[in-house]
Amino acid sequence: MHQKGMSKTTSNLSFRLMALSFKLRDWVLPRRRILREVGIRRGDRVLDYGCGPGSYIGPLAELVGEEGRIYALDLHPLALQMVQRIALRKGLKNVETIPSDCKTGLPGESIDVVLLYDVLHELSSRDDVLRELHRALKPQGVLSVMDHHMKEGEVVSAVTGGGLFRLLKKGKRTLNFCKA
Ligand SMILES: C[S@@+](CC[C@H](N)C(=O)[O-])C[C@H]1O[C@@H](n2cnc3c(N)ncnc32)[C@H](O)[C@@H]1O
Repeated sequence: MHQKGMSKTTSNLSFRLMALSFKLRDWVLPRRRILREVGIRRGDRVLDYGCGPGSYIGPLAELVGEEGRIYALDLHPLALQMVQRIALRKGLKNVETIPSDCKTGLPGESIDVVLLYDVLHELSSRDDVLRELHRALKPQGVLSVMDHHMKEGEVVSAVTGGGLFRLLKKGKRTLNFCKA
């Protein structure tokens, strides 16, 4: 695990309560409606950074198809267990879990889309994570960010402030960035 400003995991109970509340959240607003804003295509390689209990995994799998690949990264062991369970239940062979709080271990310029949903406000080493996502993204890749804990302007300056990304497209709920 990454050392500088190392992130703390929440307790298993808090994580389970969050997972439960997300079931209601996802019923009210299905995650596929959010993903429609991003332009994910069949065959894409997508990194779900801070995947949590895996709300996006099923909808992502439908979008990328069997030829695509989904990397689900989280620092919380329960998150990765929940994602593995979803993949098993749905028979998804193209989902890989990554335990980490920063480094992805993915080859440079190998990822088409990174989802950073409801995670930015939690990052203790935001710039290190953004640098890592920039490294992993393909030159034309998209970093899709959503964080209802932050104002839109705060998200834009947090992501673009380091000069690595620029705002590409504003969706109804997502802010989508490309490499600067
Ligand atoms: C509020 S949840 C959002 C989960 C998911 N993205 C969603 O929107 O349904 C935030 C997740 O980010 C994870 N997280 C927080 N800091 C992280 C870090 N530095 N690296 C990886 N995951 C992190 C937490 O463990 C948690 O699962």
